[in-house]
Amino acid sequence: MTGRSRSARLLSKQLFLTLFLSITLLRGFADEGMWLPLLLGEQVYADMVKKGLKLTKEQLYSINKASIKDAVIIFGNGCTGEIVSNEGLIFTNHHCGYAAITSASSVEHNYLRDGFYAHSKAEEIPAQGLHADFLLKIEDVTKEIEDSVKGLNDADRAAKVQSVITEINKRYSDESKSILGKVSTLFKGNQFLVFVYQVYNDIRLVGAPPESVGKFGGDTDNWEWPRHTGDFSIFRVYMSKDGGPSNYSPEDIPLKPKYSLPVSLKGLKDGDFAMIYGYPGSTNRYETSYGIKQKLDIDNPILVKLRDIRLKYMFEEMKKDPGIKLQLAPSYASIANYWKFYDGESKQLVKYGIYDQKKVQEEAFRKWAEGKPEFENLFTEWAKAYDEWRPYSKQRVYLLEGVLGCHLMAFAATLQQVENVLVKQGGGDIKKAVAAASEARKVFLKEENRISDQHILAVTTSMYYNDIDRSQFPIGFFESLKGSYGDLSNPNTFEKYAAAVFNGTLLFDDMKWNAFVANPDATVLQGDPAYKHASTFLKNWQGKYFPYYQQFTAKNNELGRLYLKGIMQMDPKKIRYPDATFTMRVSYGNVKSYSPRDAVHYDYACTMKGVLEKYIPGDYEFDLPARLVELAKKRDFGQYIDKSRNDLVVTFITTNDITGGNSGSPVIDGQGELVGLAFDGNYEALSHKIAFDPVYNRTICVDIRYVLWCIDKLGGASNIIDELKLVKPVATAK
Ligand code: ARG
Repeated sequence: MTGRSRSARLLSKQLFLTLFLSITLLRGFADEGMWLPLLLGEQVYADMVKKGLKLTKEQLYSINKASIKDAVIIFGNGCTGEIVSNEGLIFTNHHCGYAAITSASSVEHNYLRDGFYAHSKAEEIPAQGLHADFLLKIEDVTKEIEDSVKGLNDADRAAKVQSVITEINKRYSDESKSILGKVSTLFKGNQFLVFVYQVYNDIRLVGAPPESVGKFGGDTDNWEWPRHTGDFSIFRVYMSKDGGPSNYSPEDIPLKPKYSLPVSLKGLKDGDFAMIYGYPGSTNRYETSYGIKQKLDIDNPILVKLRDIRLKYMFEEMKKDPGIKLQLAPSYASIANYWKFYDGESKQLVKYGIYDQKKVQEEAFRKWAEGKPEFENLFTEWAKAYDEWRPYSKQRVYLLEGVLGCHLMAFAATLQQVENVLVKQGGGDIKKAVAAASEARKVFLKEENRISDQHILAVTTSMYYNDIDRSQFPIGFFESLKGSYGDLSNPNTFEKYAAAVFNGTLLFDDMKWNAFVANPDATVLQGDPAYKHASTFLKNWQGKYFPYYQQFTAKNNELGRLYLKGIMQMDPKKIRYPDATFTMRVSYGNVKSYSPRDAVHYDYACTMKGVLEKYIPGDYEFDLPARLVELAKKRDFGQYIDKSRNDLVVTFITTNDITGGNSGSPVIDGQGELVGLAFDGNYEALSHKIAFDPVYNRTICVDIRYVLWCIDKLGGASNIIDELKLVKPVATAK
């Protein structure tokens, strides 16, 4: 707390409020906003044009004609990709293709480490589990849902909304044609749109740079600018011979897309217009002060400290052996990514005083709501909902990030389904449940590293013991642990316990597992030390704390809906964008340098010069392929050079409003040409899920010219370059 007096604080609050209001009025909606491309109003479109867009609305999004939206896809389960050739070629991020690249790799053919390019379609590698979803149309179903809940109370309302959504999803889907309808709840339940996708499941790996390029800078540079990462990978969508979507078949042929993006060699400079299409996953821009406090006090710090432990033990093993590295790398990367994110989020929320800002906004709302029965008690109720949930909320983070943070326990927990069918007399198909568990076990064993995982079990269990309120322990668990393994204040006790669990479980033992599969028996499962551990903590949560959580989320959702409804009534003219919901959005802004702190200026672009400056031979994060160093020293940049800098531009930043899920998104210039791929956000704006910062927010993009250089010069895959529609700069007279 600063030493300012109360009155000074009050004054500054008022000042802040007037400033806040006038800034929002003046600024309109510049930079901030993840807009639905179908519902771009005239004002937003006009603002885009003012900033440098040269395209018509029809070129941005059209249902009847091919438009940019047809080139933008959901890639896999949480990324964006774009179509860049008329043979279904996809560009996305390296970190989006990471798991597919890793599973195509072996210690002998280590594509993750060395990179990979298919020089013909026959060399492309099927990537199982990946899919590409093309958006066909969007329809507003708000009225249907609203009509179905008229007159219902809160609890019935929520349940009814869910069941109507399920019905609508079914109505818009057609499994036989691989068409998927999915209702998205927008403005916290004040609007519902159904998004209809054509899903393709035959996706193949076409190319990726070596990891030392695709993940250059590793976790040190992750979420930071300046950043020099060549974060791209290349895939292709295939369709059946008759032109429909298909699961993998060797007979399949490359997709003929409706639209593919031209690729620009022109590059951008400071101030240039840039827009980003993609699938931002989630934001919570209307989060309350209570929610922020919950994050700052409990959710974020506990997640971070539990992930610290998991990462530490995984990394120790990954360093030792390339086989283990391949085994653990994808899960390590995803744990590390949001470990750094949530740590940074807390820091920035505090730095920018977001909690106080929210309080001011909430106070203004409370004043407006006086005398309006629907809204006037909203914040009193909200405070109460948080008060009731807070005492148990640690349990949830410990369950998700601690208990289930041990990979063995995450698998063992899934066996609860097997236990359920075994104990229910005559209920459920035992054979089916056990067969599914056997399949899951294969996947589990492929990804399991026992040494790190055993330590993770030991340390997270000990942390649970020290951090959770005793009254919330699973009954009898720690007493019995103490009885068998000794003093609970000694970390060694937990190591001994973990060793006993890992050595005693049948889950690692093929013979014992097969015997169980042949003759499934509830007491065998219940007596297994790994299952016992998982189910003890799971049942403690399910029986005692999950009900509180359900109650809390239902209330929080309902109050959120009312809050937004109220906010929209308070200021009905304001143009708003809905929070991110992993649905297609467009954001627009400019290339822009910034100053992160006093006396420091960050240029808007990073170049090959900086790649070489960061190079540390043999380092885990900052090593480089020898050939890259050689080409860079020879300055062999070909047509990809940036003439104004006389260097290769590798990355650049824009003011665009994006978030996780946007990874791999096309960065498009005013003419509709691809100039980069979005792959990260900067550290100074890690509070962006809660509050967009108009001064500090930046999107980090890999320059498409660096991508092409890596493919062509470094990778020697000119066949891929030949597929693209390249747009070259107009030659200027010397
Ligand atoms: N921060 C990036 C994103 O969320 C992911 C970068 C992956 N790289 C890494 N070093 N973990 O889009």
